[in-house]
Amino acid sequence: MSGQQALFKRVAIIGLGLIGGSLACALRRNGLAEVVVGADKRAEELALGAELGVIDQAAKSIEEAVTGSDLVVLAVPVRATRAVLAEIKPWLSESAVLTDVGSTKSSFVADVEAVFGSLSPQVIPGHPIAGSEKSGIRAANPDLFARHKVILTPADDANPEALANLKRLWEGCDATVLTMSVAYHDEVLAATSHLPHLIAFSLVDTLAGEDENMDIFRYAAGGFRDFTRIAASDPVMWHDIFLSNRDAVLRVIDHFTHDLDQLRDAIANQDSAMLLRVFSRAKAAREHFSKMLSGQAYVTKNSENQVTFRLQPGGAIAGDIRVPGDKSMSHRSIMLGALANGITEVKGFLEGEDSLATLQAFRDMGVTIEGPDDGFVRIHGVGVNGLQAPRGPLYLGNSGTAMRLFAGLLAAQVFDSELTGDASLSKRPMGRVADPLRAMGAVIDTAEGGRPPMKIRGGQHLTGIHYEMPVASAQVKSCLLLAGLYAEGSTSVTEPAPTRDHTERMLAGFGYHVHRDGATASVSGGGELVATDIDVPADISSAAFFLVAASIAPGSDLTLRHVGMNPTRVGVINILRQMGANIEVLDEREIGGEPVADLRVRSAELSGIDIPEDQVPLAIDEFPVLFIAATCAKGRTVLRGAEELRVKESDRIQVMADGLANLGVETTVTPDGIIIDGGQTISGGRVDSEGDHRIAMAFAVASLRAAGDIEVTNCANVATSFPGFVELAQSTGIRISAEGAE
Ligand code: S3P
Repeated sequence: MSGQQALFKRVAIIGLGLIGGSLACALRRNGLAEVVVGADKRAEELALGAELGVIDQAAKSIEEAVTGSDLVVLAVPVRATRAVLAEIKPWLSESAVLTDVGSTKSSFVADVEAVFGSLSPQVIPGHPIAGSEKSGIRAANPDLFARHKVILTPADDANPEALANLKRLWEGCDATVLTMSVAYHDEVLAATSHLPHLIAFSLVDTLAGEDENMDIFRYAAGGFRDFTRIAASDPVMWHDIFLSNRDAVLRVIDHFTHDLDQLRDAIANQDSAMLLRVFSRAKAAREHFSKMLSGQAYVTKNSENQVTFRLQPGGAIAGDIRVPGDKSMSHRSIMLGALANGITEVKGFLEGEDSLATLQAFRDMGVTIEGPDDGFVRIHGVGVNGLQAPRGPLYLGNSGTAMRLFAGLLAAQVFDSELTGDASLSKRPMGRVADPLRAMGAVIDTAEGGRPPMKIRGGQHLTGIHYEMPVASAQVKSCLLLAGLYAEGSTSVTEPAPTRDHTERMLAGFGYHVHRDGATASVSGGGELVATDIDVPADISSAAFFLVAASIAPGSDLTLRHVGMNPTRVGVINILRQMGANIEVLDEREIGGEPVADLRVRSAELSGIDIPEDQVPLAIDEFPVLFIAATCAKGRTVLRGAEELRVKESDRIQVMADGLANLGVETTVTPDGIIIDGGQTISGGRVDSEGDHRIAMAFAVASLRAAGDIEVTNCANVATSFPGFVELAQSTGIRISAEGAE
């Protein structure tokens, strides 16, 4: 920042404690103000501030500090705010920006209004979420705010320029700035900071009052120490905070007391279901705390977590591996398990971000789910009508399957719900499910162009319809069948081409009859699901990367175990075999209503083909890596009838063509497919996967035949479908490393 123009000419910091002092030295060090003036009633602190170089000038009075300043920062104890504001008032210029650093914001606004008559657009309350057990100017630290959050709570009519400058000021101290309303700030802080402090103070006080207190403290293990660390905080400061944020704190105390009473009753009544439900929900929430704090209901905002794959060229593939569980079946196992009567146990569950989002959403709707623990999940089904209203929007991350299937399920619930997702999911078309659901009687709002969020009104009566799907989509089919469980009469769906039928198979496994007549599947509403156990096979869509890898890398020989071989999913094997791949299907068996096999794949000379259009829906997720196979094949490969690829997690036709072009491979993109002339050299280079998991993994596979190093950026979303991809790929011989992984 030094050398650039300072954001403010003269900044007055009133109160040189830890926060005021740290801000002063951060401003100075980062050149964010021309002059930093400090004021403090405690003469020694003020003198120390000047001596330690925390401030440029020590002002002898508030008048001297405030006069001529274009930013005034109040950093005094919350309860002193009003009196200090009254002292500031006569000297504050109309164009100066006024902010503070206090922990409660309604009280600051009330103090400003009391002193100034109204909240001027120049006043922007602030709260840096940073601190230390140390206090006073001696502890001032210019890095105190680095990688911490600062909350600003501007009013609607706040001066945008003042807000922008203040934001830049905090960002210049390496903080992340969030803005929210005053009321929301106080509610959030009451829950996340004030209540835990209150409980810590109270617990230590209670235990200290017990007769055997010495022993309690002597034997107190890590749990007690961890839990009560904050009870050593400054009593006066916390006294001020609780009195200043009284209403919000009282609300959250009441809520907590009520929940604590319920737990007390559950223990008294030996209600293990209740205890398990609360504990497993809390454990999951705690594990994903940071994600939740970033405003997400559950999964990582992966776009913020940059992961880059680095690949060295060449290598052969060998080994005996099992890829993670099938994503489609993992989603459905949770959904149907939750709606069943009884306990469903799932083995082989995919612990990827997508299926975890589904799992969390059901927890949010009151379902007790134990695990996942190494692919094992136990779902305590609540019955078809047992879901409870979630407390907020259900966040489904990157998962189109979750959003579309949830839409069907939630359209028929008694409660309202809202479905949201990440940037990629927020661009994907939802009209394809919202429209037929509306025809059944659902009330659903979407954003412009039928995009998420989807707002679903509860309490609607659904009636079965017959629907001819314009696109071959298992998600649309499944959505309508799930809505059909609740609809009056029969709901039937005809597909223009076969799509994956896991929903139909799994419903049957849960004892719910699905009628099949050619291309039409139908259910009658009003039935029940009976819990069952599910063994999720390895995902053929994940196996596909290794099928291609071993095919294109000379000298390869790889076995993939327990791969799901549902006939509606084996397009990738059919296509690769037609190209000349050497794939043996071994030990075919049926497990829980789904065919499974081991696959042995050895390298082979591949040839380009015209991909039969009827294979497109059967290999819909495998095209990114099939394009790599085509690039390594002899002759031309033509794909048609695959416009659906343009509305997947990314526009997979264009993003693959762009990535290949970066590696020197020319292709011809058509509206519904691509033409790839094989045999071109794959050079080294840099490819942006655009956050699409399957594109990232496809280019990792391309490295096996590349002439130079490949770097694939934006790979965090590989965790949505294939956790552990990098390690597994390394173990087979792909020369991959990941940078920036969590
Ligand atoms: C899926 C269906 C397919 C597929 C997706 C999973 C499912 O989507 O691409 O990865 O589990 O039903 P469409 O139904 O949109 O083709």
